[in-house]
Amino acid sequence: MALRNIVTKGESILGKVCRPVNKFDEKLHILLDDMAETLEKANGVGLAAPQVGILRRAVLVIETNVEEDEEEFIIEFINPEIIEVSGEQTGAEGCLSVPGEYGIVTRPDYVKARAQDRNGEWFEYEGTGLTARCMCHEFEHLDGHLFLEKCERMLTEEEISGGEE
Ligand code: NI
Repeated sequence: MALRNIVTKGESILGKVCRPVNKFDEKLHILLDDMAETLEKANGVGLAAPQVGILRRAVLVIETNVEEDEEEFIIEFINPEIIEVSGEQTGAEGCLSVPGEYGIVTRPDYVKARAQDRNGEWFEYEGTGLTARCMCHEFEHLDGHLFLEKCERMLTEEEISGGEE
């Protein structure tokens, strides 16, 4: 595994629409493993392939809603689509491609998605709370969108240093 560089705001690749993944091969597996290492190192909760410069529809989300005695785990979403949403949550959100900036974004509180795994098998996944927020945020990266477009307002320096969500 290797760390990849995270592309930041202002680089044109973040505004592009990613192509579907159609080969579930070693190259994809290496990309996903590298993304996992990069995400862990950066202390994030999600990462999309375009954030490491790859214009393909692949996303990682960390499932943080686990029991106290359970480990958080990474969900790999390839070619994801949202098939159901419900509820609403409003809270602070950030992005590894927009370091140091946080904004208030309203998202569904429940998201059901359909996606392929690293071997091309289709599955469905239901996320709530932070996981639902993260799924929406990461999937939007695949269509060239950043959370900044959805922000009601940005957090002030004071709010950030006082501890964000
Ligand atoms: Ni992001």
